[in-house]
Amino acid sequence: MEKPYILHMFTPEKNLSPFDVNMALDAGWTSAIPYLHVEANEVRALVQDAIFSRSPKGLKRTGIFVGGRDAKLAVDMLRTAKQSMVPPFQVSVFADPSGAFTTAAAMVALVERELQAKFNTELKGKSVLALGGTGPVGQIAAVLAAKAGAQVKIVGRQLEKARNIASLVNSEFGGDETRIEGDADANKGELIKTADVVFATAAAGVQVLSAELVAAAPQLKVAADVNAVPPSGIAGLDAHHQGTPIPGSNSGAVGIGALAIGNIKYKTQSDLLARMRQADKPIYLSFDEAFALAREFAQKL
Ligand SMILES: NC(=O)c1ccc[n+]([C@@H]2O[C@H](COP(=O)([O-])OP(=O)(O)OC[C@H]3O[C@@H](n4cnc5c(N)ncnc54)[C@H](OP(=O)(O)O)[C@@H]3O)[C@@H](O)[C@H]2O)c1
Repeated sequence: MEKPYILHMFTPEKNLSPFDVNMALDAGWTSAIPYLHVEANEVRALVQDAIFSRSPKGLKRTGIFVGGRDAKLAVDMLRTAKQSMVPPFQVSVFADPSGAFTTAAAMVALVERELQAKFNTELKGKSVLALGGTGPVGQIAAVLAAKAGAQVKIVGRQLEKARNIASLVNSEFGGDETRIEGDADANKGELIKTADVVFATAAAGVQVLSAELVAAAPQLKVAADVNAVPPSGIAGLDAHHQGTPIPGSNSGAVGIGALAIGNIKYKTQSDLLARMRQADKPIYLSFDEAFALAREFAQKL
């Protein structure tokens, strides 16, 4: 009898994301087994319990997914899981907490595409605001843009929180490559005057860029909004927009809406889940791998 494809799905939260469960089964995993309230110091034992139950050949049909809501915790768990393998007993691991790694990857890849297609330029040297950027999606979008050479500010309602998050993402995710800063929502009126790119990454249903601020952005080129719940995160931007001119922009800025981002996010997450099943050797997937793949999908549009 052929062994089933078993995906062990770890989350520190009280439930898995139903979205991730559907994605896993649709990508060909036979079973998606939940492990809830998982703490970082429990990952090693769980991984080693999984890897010794099958032969190294059979382990190709075994994988681990790390969910939750916390980007740093997920990256820590992915690292611990990788370090807990005992070759040749080893399995693939994919972290995508809150869908943030694949969502941020899709958004930044689409922004790059529009910068190139409409403005013949790239992220390098651009001024980027991650509005509502203190959550997992904003954090990772900020890191990916900064690694591509942009000057990035994470903007939140409280200055101190935004600065702390900026410092955390630089040290945890940016290596020596990023100099992301934190700033306060109250300063948006000033910040928008020099912004080339805006990411709207606040909680669902929160508008972070008003029509007045869109009009007051003299060098805005691309604005992307991950929020699919009305009102849109950026005034005038529709969830279907994909390089569509933003009404009221005085700089000819174009918008990318949540459904356009969701399309690339879906393809990226689905493909990474499928690659885990198909890989000859174990693979370890985080936001950098998601971004590389999202760029490929964005270029094919
Ligand atoms: N399109 C897609 O495919 C897709 C996929 C996944 C997620 N999403 C969307 O991505 C967005 C970000 O997700 P996330 O998990 O990173 O978000 P999150 O952690 O829930 O929220 C991000 C930030 O929003 C700010 N915020 C919360 N409530 C607010 C309010 N009432 N007014 C103003 N700001 C508020 C908070 O920042 P401060 O406290 O620092 O201000 C928070 O850190 C969500 O809208 C989510 O629905 C989209």
